[in-house]
Amino acid sequence: PYRFAGSLEELRAGAKTVGYPCVVKPIMSSSGHGQSVVRSADTIDAAWVEAQEGRRAHDEGDVSRVIVEALAPLDYELTVLTVSSSAGIVTCAPIGQRQESGDYRESWQPASFTQDVLAQAQRIACTAVEGLVAKAKASGEKGWGVFGVELFVLTDGSVLFNEVSPRPHDTGMVTMASQRLSEFALHARAILGLPLTQEHVALSIPDGAVAASHAIVIQGDGEAEFRNVATALSQPGTDLRIFAKPEVHGHRRMAVALAIGTDEADARAKAENVAESLEIDIA
Ligand SMILES: Nc1ncnc2c1ncn2[C@@H]1O[C@H](COP(=O)(O)OP(=O)(O)O)[C@@H](O)[C@H]1O
Ligand SMILES: [Mg+2]
Repeated sequence: PYRFAGSLEELRAGAKTVGYPCVVKPIMSSSGHGQSVVRSADTIDAAWVEAQEGRRAHDEGDVSRVIVEALAPLDYELTVLTVSSSAGIVTCAPIGQRQESGDYRESWQPASFTQDVLAQAQRIACTAVEGLVAKAKASGEKGWGVFGVELFVLTDGSVLFNEVSPRPHDTGMVTMASQRLSEFALHARAILGLPLTQEHVALSIPDGAVAASHAIVIQGDGEAEFRNVATALSQPGTDLRIFAKPEVHGHRRMAVALAIGTDEADARAKAENVAESLEIDIA
């Protein structure tokens, strides 16, 4: 159950319908900013304030709206990168992920899942993107690009749509290791009008292998300097991307470690090891 709300009054009424515990989120946000879990009616007003202060884009039309939805019993989360191009819509292999405080920390691809979950995930991803592309076309646009469709797999095995990024997705950074065309290459090709088929979005790692990404979140105040890179990358099958972000003030994702492993556990451990081996100074 969920309701959209454009005012505190609507939020109070929506929460009542949805029930507690519920999650209040700005409709346009990222990395968990402005979100809160509300356990009873006496903290719903605080959730409205939190959403207004944390939301993205304070100057773009109707973005003060929030969604209030039931706190879902998650088993795990998936991202299905879905590519809309001049050749139609195709999906990448599902990406598994671990979130912490509303923010992505690790992702891996392909995620292991049952055939049933895979079928539900692909159907929901295609339906969401087809809908957005139809809207784009109705207003004279192409609707081309990579979309990151986030899905919740619940403890009972059912799959729910969570949200969609109309652009490459943070958990999709794993494609820099797992696919010949990363999500960024796919996005560039798509918006340039080049055709992308299921072959273009295929994995390029050996059969049975898994790739992983590990976000490097830095805390401090100032410019980050990365040391010990040689040791961190001494393990075969690993890689590192340091973002062109000048400074950190508080918490900021500043780099990502990538690895290819024999299975999910191996890939995740390798990527984590790269991240842990780095020495980062803030000056
Ligand atoms: N209704 C919900 N039930 C359970 N967990 C949720 C719910 N909504 C969000 N979350 C958790 O918070 C994370 C961030 O929420 P999300 O809607 O994806 O916002 P963001 O735009 O910040 O990524 C999700 O990946 C999930 O772990
Ligand atoms: Mg999200």
